[in-house]
Amino acid sequence: MAGGRAAGATMYVTLEPCCHVGKMPPCTRAILAAGIGRVVAAMSDPFPKVAGGGAAELQAASVEVELGLLADEARRRNAPYLKLVECGRPWIIGKWAMTLDGKIATRSGNSKWISSPQSRQIVHSLRGRMDAIVVGRETALRDDPLLTARPVGPRTSLRIVLDTRAALPSHSLLVRTARETPVLVAVGSEAANADRQRLRESGCEVLVCQGATHAARLDCLLEELGRRRLTNVLVEGGGRLLGSLLDAGQIDEVHVFIAPKLVGGGAAASPIGGKASQSCRLPSGWIRWRSSRSAATFTCMDELPRMFVYLRVESSCERLSENSPLVRADAARWERGRGRGLFPAQAGVVPVSSHRPPSP
Ligand SMILES: NC(=O)c1ccc[n+]([C@@H]2O[C@H](COP(=O)([O-])OP(=O)(O)OC[C@H]3O[C@@H](n4cnc5c(N)ncnc54)[C@H](OP(=O)(O)O)[C@@H]3O)[C@@H](O)[C@H]2O)c1
Repeated sequence: MAGGRAAGATMYVTLEPCCHVGKMPPCTRAILAAGIGRVVAAMSDPFPKVAGGGAAELQAASVEVELGLLADEARRRNAPYLKLVECGRPWIIGKWAMTLDGKIATRSGNSKWISSPQSRQIVHSLRGRMDAIVVGRETALRDDPLLTARPVGPRTSLRIVLDTRAALPSHSLLVRTARETPVLVAVGSEAANADRQRLRESGCEVLVCQGATHAARLDCLLEELGRRRLTNVLVEGGGRLLGSLLDAGQIDEVHVFIAPKLVGGGAAASPIGGKASQSCRLPSGWIRWRSSRSAATFTCMDELPRMFVYLRVESSCERLSENSPLVRADAARWERGRGRGLFPAQAGVVPVSSHRPPSP
């Protein structure tokens, strides 16, 4: 874009320029054609077709190459791509909306009242950047979601339902819209042929995942998504599916919306099921305030590279949010910030920008 003005310039990039033909021609070719004199790349590209080849090609053409500047930051920024290349699995983002007492639905399975217009807006913008959006069969049946980004974003994601017996009804919104926006139903080998056929005839792709357990079939699905080079996958619940992913150590990032409501009762579902065999530590030094009245906070756990917490505050719950253990750690900073007007007063949910966790 800079045209002739790029000649002799220094180019800063987060990843080594590629030297192979993929979806696009090689970056190295464009760099050489532009006459760039020096390339500063934060890290080498581990993708086997590049892996140092891009830097070598530039150096061979007398372009100065420096690798490693801000390498840790680049690894964090490129984390979804790196997971795909290094593990053959997509980056999994778990997302849920819950009440202050950690419930994602009432005992009868009603959950739509937890989110708000602001939180839905954030979710739609998240969806618009995903390669796939996944739900469990129970969520598909109970909520009948469309799982599209509205308004549309830069990507149209594949909508996926994990449904061992191919029971997704033909009248569901997902099936009815499968010809407009792709739907993949991941079934087990026990799914009846007639149901597989019914879904295929409605325009859904039916993928048979091998394995005798949910865990094995989930692994099979993730491997297939990696093979298709889907990088960012949003899992919108429910708790059983997110529990399987947590048990498999496959949740990489979470977005949690907390509503100022209480449900109570042991029978109401919580966001993550599974075996409850692991815990994530929450170091208080990493809790940060984002704003005051809106009280959107974000937090980074050491086991999870990224975690975003959106706290929806209405006047009736401000006191609760100030006193909650999650935010108490930084109350003093909040007070100082409020005095200096650092945190804009704003109602509702505030989207939180990506961040770099502080050094422990
Ligand atoms: N507040 C929120 O953010 C939110 C979000 C989503 C859902 N919800 C609510 O959560 C409730 C549904 O959650 P849920 O936990 O009952 O069900 P779920 O996780 O949506 O679906 C579970 C079902 O998915 C199928 N499945 C296939 N592979 C699986 C795997 N690897 N791991 C787990 N399940 C797998 C299983 O049925 P088969 O064996 O038949 O395949 C299983 O019974 C609904 O009430 C919904 O409204 C709330």
